Amino acid sequence: MHDTLTYRTPARLLHWIMAVLVLAMIAAGLVMVREGLDRSVQNALFIFHKNVGILVLGLAVVRLLYRRRHPAPPLPAHVPDWQARAAHFSHLALYGLMIALPVAGYIRVKAGGFPIEALDALGVPALVPRSEALAELAKQVHYIAGLVLCAVVGAHILAGFHHLVVRRDGVFSRIWPPVRPHGR
Ligand code: HEM
Repeated sequence: MHDTLTYRTPARLLHWIMAVLVLAMIAAGLVMVREGLDRSVQNALFIFHKNVGILVLGLAVVRLLYRRRHPAPPLPAHVPDWQARAAHFSHLALYGLMIALPVAGYIRVKAGGFPIEALDALGVPALVPRSEALAELAKQVHYIAGLVLCAVVGAHILAGFHHLVVRRDGVFSRIWPPVRPHGR
């Protein structure tokens, strides 16, 4: 019997796959813009960042659609109201940022006239016009959204560890392991 107090396997898998990919995007994004980086390393990081970033966008859409059909299980009653509200708003922000960051990145690259190799190979046409002004605006949005994402992800990870190590209240095992154990 599955109870309704933990996440189902698809939600768990999407969570952990995207956790790895988003952290990799942040790391690659921060390293690839550093001055003095070896040119071929920089190119490889850019190709990785742009193409896997588009994959993150696709997964975020799948995840939002899944979440609409399968709402999150309610938090246990012992979690204080303000923490439940903080969790709710940070999850909302994470969903918004998982969409906004790749969209801004896409606009920055395509308006700037650069390739996104996987989309180009699939014959997907550019969905935005060439424009330096638009590319510059999207670059700023991408940068600021990236900073906000780092802050929210940091808080999210700290909260998760707090439940796992300090409170030991079973909240962490609602989402871990990535496949729901039989009978939970
Ligand atoms: C979840 C997805 C993504 C995350 C978390 C992310 C995060 C970041 C971060 C932290 C940076 C470094 C900040 C900076 O100096 O600008 C960056 C830079 C960059 N990102 Fe992303 N990114 C994502 C998706 C994308 C996508 C889909 C594209 C393009 C298809 C893209 C294109 C770029 C580019 C071109 C830069 C270099 C800065 C610039 O010149 O505009 N990003 N990203």
